This record gives sequence, structure tokens and C-alpha cells, in this order.
Amino acid sequence: MSKKPIGIFDSGIGGTSIFKEIHTLLPNENCIYLADSKNAPYGNKSEEKILQLSIKNTEYLLDKGCKIIVVACNTATTNAISYLRANYDIPFIGIEPAIKPAALNTQSKTVGILATKGTLSSQLFHKTTDLYASGIKVIEQVGEGIVPLIETGQLDSHEMKALLETYLEPMLKQDIDYLVLGCTHYPYLIPTLTKMLPENITIIDSGLAVAKQTQAILTRQNLLNSSIDKPTIKLFSNGDISVLNSVLNNEFDVSYLDF
Ligand code: DGL
Repeated sequence: MSKKPIGIFDSGIGGTSIFKEIHTLLPNENCIYLADSKNAPYGNKSEEKILQLSIKNTEYLLDKGCKIIVVACNTATTNAISYLRANYDIPFIGIEPAIKPAALNTQSKTVGILATKGTLSSQLFHKTTDLYASGIKVIEQVGEGIVPLIETGQLDSHEMKALLETYLEPMLKQDIDYLVLGCTHYPYLIPTLTKMLPENITIIDSGLAVAKQTQAILTRQNLLNSSIDKPTIKLFSNGDISVLNSVLNNEFDVSYLDF
């Protein structure tokens, strides 16, 4: 069982920010990554459609014999993970915006969150915010248009910077000191955001926490790979694989998959 791969999926290339954290923490693990770039962005789709796509991705990874599935997408997690957990008999790790650490550490009592419409409108997001951020002002901003730009490799383009400026302005005016990146595509914007934001603002995402949770569950369920063979890492995309290759610095085995 332990030799079976970790399955990871996202609406596109964003979840590779999570894959990288997992691979760094668990270098011995075999992994299969699925980028459903053809259907990106998920963020504007209905809950029903997000669920349908999440089921399709899950079944693909189950067919490949995955021992655990990491839903490396905030939008799919917040809209579909309870269904997936209830209907498939393997562990699922999800990702949610890191509201809790931001709310615990903010000095200005004001935090900003940039995420998709699908995440910000989900019940799970509201439940988490009510639970951990009472008494804190949470400025929610839908990152409309960001994912399609990232999917076409525009991490630092003029258009991207203009979009980010519009989204950050209301947050800066209200004195945020934490910016939560609530979409797995957004960590690729950290170099651009760092240049745009004042130094007192901390940018956080949930990537490392997801990798640690994956490690904890595999350990608890005795599923860690104990083999000494070189791990097999395969990434598949039904979109433009050149963008996937470029965010991975051409370091991994990437293939086009018609699904
Ligand atoms: N990477 C995704 C997330 O974490 C999905 C974004 C999208 O497809 O809209 O929400």
C-alpha cells in the first residue's frame, strides 16, 4: 500500500505550489498531479459544477491507485470535500485559506483575504471565519481574472499588476497587516506582491500546513512509503503543458492528458 502514489489535483497549475511543499517534506513519496487547466477557473463555477469536476478528478486519481488525495484547490475543497470524504474510502486532505493564523497574529485587527468567488461564498469558508476570526475585520476580495492570467504564464505582467493594484487598494486603505492567499495559484504571485506591498504586511498561504497534514495522516495510517527506490513523480495537464513546465522549472515529468 505505502508504495502507492499521493494523488493531487487542482483546477490548473496552482496546486503545484502545494505539490512542491509535499515533495520537499516527503521526498520519498510517489506522486501524481492532475491539472484540470481545460476547465480553469473553477472559481466562478456553480457548486454543482465544482463538485462534478472534483469527482471526475478524484476518480481519475483513484484509477491510478492513489492511497490518499490532496485537493490542492481551495475552491474544490470548500465546495466538494465533504462529499468526497463521505463517498470514497481513502483519506482526503483539503486546503482552506489560512484565516486562523492571520486572525491570531494581526496587530491591526484587520486582515485581507484574496480568494475565488467559489471559496469566499462557500459555507465552509464562512464557518471557518466565524470560528477563528470573531472580533477581527476580514476584508474579502474576489480575485476575479487572476487565475486565467496565471494559467497563461502572466505572473508579473502589466495586466496582472493593474489587477492586483485594484484588489489591494481597499485593503491597504483599511490598514491590513496580513494578506491571506486563499487560492493555490496565488503563491506564484508572492514576488510581485512583495514588491507592491508595504513591508509591515505579512503574506500567508496554507501550503506548508497542507504538506504537514498529509505527512501526519500518512504516518497515522501507516501509509508512508518505506521503499528506497527513486520515487516516480508524474504531472498531467489537459491544458498547455509549457506553463506547467515553466512553474516547475522543467524539473519534473510533465505530460499532456486528454481528459
Ligand atoms: N487553485 C484554485 C484555488 O485554490 C482554483 C482557482 C480557480 O480555478 O478559480 O481556489
